[in-house]
Amino acid sequence: MQTPLTRLLGIRAPILVGPMTAVSEENLVVAAAEAGIVAGLPPHNYESVDAFAAALGRIRARTSGPFAVNLIVNRANVRLPRQLEAALDAKTPIFVASLGDPEEVIRRAHAANAKVICDVSTLAHGERAVRAGADALNAVVAGAGGHAGHITAFALVPSLVDRVKVPVVCAGGVADGRGLAAALMLGASGVQMGTRFIACNECEAARGWKDAIVRATPDDLVLTERLSGVMGSYLKTAELSRMGTAMPLPLALLMRSKRTRGLTQKAMLVLASRKMSEIRKGERALWSAGQSAGLVHDTLPLATIVERVMRECHDVLAKAETLTR
Ligand SMILES: Cc1cc2nc3c(=O)[nH]c(=O)nc-3n(C[C@H](O)[C@H](O)[C@H](O)COP(=O)(O)O)c2cc1C
Repeated sequence: MQTPLTRLLGIRAPILVGPMTAVSEENLVVAAAEAGIVAGLPPHNYESVDAFAAALGRIRARTSGPFAVNLIVNRANVRLPRQLEAALDAKTPIFVASLGDPEEVIRRAHAANAKVICDVSTLAHGERAVRAGADALNAVVAGAGGHAGHITAFALVPSLVDRVKVPVVCAGGVADGRGLAAALMLGASGVQMGTRFIACNECEAARGWKDAIVRATPDDLVLTERLSGVMGSYLKTAELSRMGTAMPLPLALLMRSKRTRGLTQKAMLVLASRKMSEIRKGERALWSAGQSAGLVHDTLPLATIVERVMRECHDVLAKAETLTR
């Protein structure tokens, strides 16, 4: 299936594997490239920029397919300049810019002939990213895994499609071919899926995390700022219930004031990143996932997931045609 997104990125199916904190590693990125799609690698999953650069080198050695690097482009990411240099040195073909002003990354990436997809959760943010030169937009919608958006796919995707000329990707809520077909009907050129790919054989997330996704219904997800200071979607595990999803009063007060909110979020993000290796190993069940977890019923090889989603999507689109005849 070819869409403006597949043509832009040189991929065989309009599916991106979303970059995932504490989850995405080399095996997932290589498996995606070999399956004809593309996965994002977050440098913040590595202890140092050197370790991230070494990972990029190994990915390059294992596949000739495309890969993406996810850069957090806000001021809290003090490693951004070095991460960008490492990614450019590795001739990264695609960047995914999240959580801030992408201008510098777009300028540098374009100078190196790379493409930049910007994560956006509002129309204004999307229009700003396009003015800055974004090649495509990830519409981060309500119900997505990670730091979910607050606008539904039904509203955000077509609104962006009406306003911008670059491909729009529906990021969130999609785990099967029905979701992909629906996103295409809304005018998206593809989908970015995270949760579905946690439950794939090549993903190195802890077994408990994968099993919790396979068991989950959409009722088993909760939105909270408690873990990172930014609203995120998490599986309701026993550990999260013990910790509680409401902000403790002192933190809630600091988050409420405009003056202290930014600094508090920064501190919470730093504390959250310190728990990352325990979360990754499954020692702490503080696991993000999107509402699409309710649609994931098995752990499969990545290529099988891609084939199945594409087959389902074609079937749903053919069925829709007969329904309206
Ligand atoms: C565990 C987890 C961690 C995530 N971390 C990041 C991240 O570091 N950077 C980013 O741009 N998106 C991140 N996301 C969002 C995903 O890239 C993707 O857009 C999202 O998972 C799509 O929604 P879905 O989970 O319903 O498929 C994360 C998602 C999950 C589930």
